[in-house]
Amino acid sequence: MNVPFYDATREYRAYKHDFDDAIASVIASGSFILGKEVREFEEAIKGYTGAKYAVGVANGSDALVIASDILGLKKGAEVLTPVFTFFASASCIARLGGTPVFCDVNEDTFSMDMGDAEKRITKNTKGIIPVHLFLQTADMTACMDLVEQYHLAVLEDAAEAFGMESPYKGVYKHAGTIGDFGVFSFFPTKTLGCYGDGGMVVTNNEALYRKVKSYRVHGSSVRYHHDYIGYNSRLDTLQAAVLQVKLTHIENTIERRAAHAAQYRELLKDIPAIKLPSIKDGNREVNYVFCVQAENRDRLEAHLKEQGIGTSVYYPIPLHLQKCFEYLGYKAGDFPVAERLCESVLALPMFPELTEDEVSYVCESVREFYRRCRRVSEI
Ligand SMILES: Cc1ncc(COP(=O)(O)O)c(C=O)c1O
Repeated sequence: MNVPFYDATREYRAYKHDFDDAIASVIASGSFILGKEVREFEEAIKGYTGAKYAVGVANGSDALVIASDILGLKKGAEVLTPVFTFFASASCIARLGGTPVFCDVNEDTFSMDMGDAEKRITKNTKGIIPVHLFLQTADMTACMDLVEQYHLAVLEDAAEAFGMESPYKGVYKHAGTIGDFGVFSFFPTKTLGCYGDGGMVVTNNEALYRKVKSYRVHGSSVRYHHDYIGYNSRLDTLQAAVLQVKLTHIENTIERRAAHAAQYRELLKDIPAIKLPSIKDGNREVNYVFCVQAENRDRLEAHLKEQGIGTSVYYPIPLHLQKCFEYLGYKAGDFPVAERLCESVLALPMFPELTEDEVSYVCESVREFYRRCRRVSEI
């Protein structure tokens, strides 16, 4: 059996007519840049997440750069960001001349260790980027305590977090809607993913919203009049049309992902060499990816590949050891938890259209690998 890590074609086949109609209708309208589908999709995102404002941009990475620029997280600013995350959570700061200040993460939940973050605060610290990684939000209560105490700007990297919710001040809040800004990525593999690149910035602050709208079109709100040196970063109208179709199925998407996660948990729970992800109290998880911590991770990955199973390593190198961040002066050993996770985390196949049989096959292959390891060590 072959089990892909991710397969977009199954969903396309299931809703082919809807996708084809949506795409054809944009082409027939001849309106490609910031067409009506972008506005409609922004409205739908506001409705779904509860954010007051939403602005579609070209991708999640641009969303982070635009939001950082507007919040002043640039030259002269130190910005706290986790060391175990996708590159863009830190490059947004570095590319604007700011200093990413890396923080270690929590071994059980993968998200930023707010205690470690507090120790790294200096008089130059201007902001914090909590990243909602893999399946649940960062601890936003602890994060906002730091934000209030040290007067920081807060940019939630919710690129992976569409649909995730956590309790904040007694109310469930959607990922990305607590800080000054939240950003989403609609990269194809994401829980809400399009057929190319796409991103969104959300905020509850009207002045910040107006700036993002202007920044995405070269800093202008009236054509050819530029108030800021902005960007050319707009959500493509064709992608907005695809995303509108996908959003109508989002609850089903999330439920199916949850069912696969539950099956993985059940079938892997008694394998001592596998550590399953923990969910923080009260968090409403969404399984964007299903990451386990595995002994002999690289050999397990090779074994699964031989069995026709696709996996992915999120993330093989912590950010402080990336070549481009050498100038920051960190060294191996500085972030022990993140470094351990980079050696042990493995993402198993996860997308809504996976079948029960496929998940069972993946789990049986994992079990078989550790059985073999035991036999070898017994010889
Ligand atoms: C945590 C995180 N931040 C930012 C991004 C960047 O999003 P995009 O790929 O849409 O630029 C991603 C997506 O891969 C991500 O996982």
